[in-house]
Amino acid sequence: MREFKNLIYQNEDNIGIITLNRPKVLNATNSELLKELAELLDEISGDDKVRALILTGGEKVFVAGGDIQFMSQAAPLEMEKFIALGHKVYDRIANFNKPVIAAIFGMALGGGCELALACDIRIAADNAKFGQPEINLGIIPGAGGTQRLSRVVGPGWANYLIMTGRIIKADLALKIGLVTEILPAGQLMTRARELALELAAKSPVAMRLAKSCINNGANSSLSSGLLYEQKVWALLFATEDQKEGMNAFLEKRKPEFKGK
Ligand code: CAA
Repeated sequence: MREFKNLIYQNEDNIGIITLNRPKVLNATNSELLKELAELLDEISGDDKVRALILTGGEKVFVAGGDIQFMSQAAPLEMEKFIALGHKVYDRIANFNKPVIAAIFGMALGGGCELALACDIRIAADNAKFGQPEINLGIIPGAGGTQRLSRVVGPGWANYLIMTGRIIKADLALKIGLVTEILPAGQLMTRARELALELAAKSPVAMRLAKSCINNGANSSLSSGLLYEQKVWALLFATEDQKEGMNAFLEKRKPEFKGK
């Protein structure tokens, strides 16, 4: 795997860890970083040994948003290209074929909060802060924030965060369901690894299809979401993992899922 300028990738046990690495600008995202992330995700998606992914910005900051220096003088068409790339990469994460955990230290602002929202599970250090401050720059969230934030925390809190541009602390983020756990900063990566290993031990095929049902349901009516779930549920009975899972239960042992 090639070296990336803005990313660090580690692979241990059945877990991949992507660390965003543009420290001078607090991991602000630009096209180069997003293209690298797309390339890395493509490589990881084909690696069957990796069964869960952790996305972090390292111990100081998650992401302080899109790169304002880069955006400040840009023309609309250039920005359309940039935001289309952002959507492509964030959608790739949301629909990734492995579960993705965001481990958030420090600021997750603007495009950074939106990146966390594209992940399946968000856990945060007690120093984490969240916000969609775009309104203070005379713009709006453009990397999915107006859509994903309200789906995660409901329209009331999404309106509040997007309209005020206020930055909230980890404890409020937990209260409104933006994150599922807060830990002391020194324990966050240990917990992220523990959670990733827990997910990595499940059936990869059931994991992928559970995610597919949840994502599909977010974009469809209840009746078509339920129908999709019904078909996918039945399909799982064609897998070895279903047989292994149920046999292991009956034989009172731990299942060993193969993703088949
Ligand atoms: N883009 C570019 N550079 C950024 C940046 C950003 N989003 N956020 C921080 N930086 C840079 C700063 O300019 C500064 O650079 P210099 O050292 O060269 O001056 C460096 O990172 C450190 O930042 P601060 O000195 O400001 O650090 P701080 O600890 O005092 O404040 C902060 C931290 C509250 C995150 C503050 O930097 C800040 O408010 N950043 C902007 C947050 C923001 O508005 N994000 C939304 C961007 S728009 C967006 O996200 C749209 C999108 O992608 C779709």
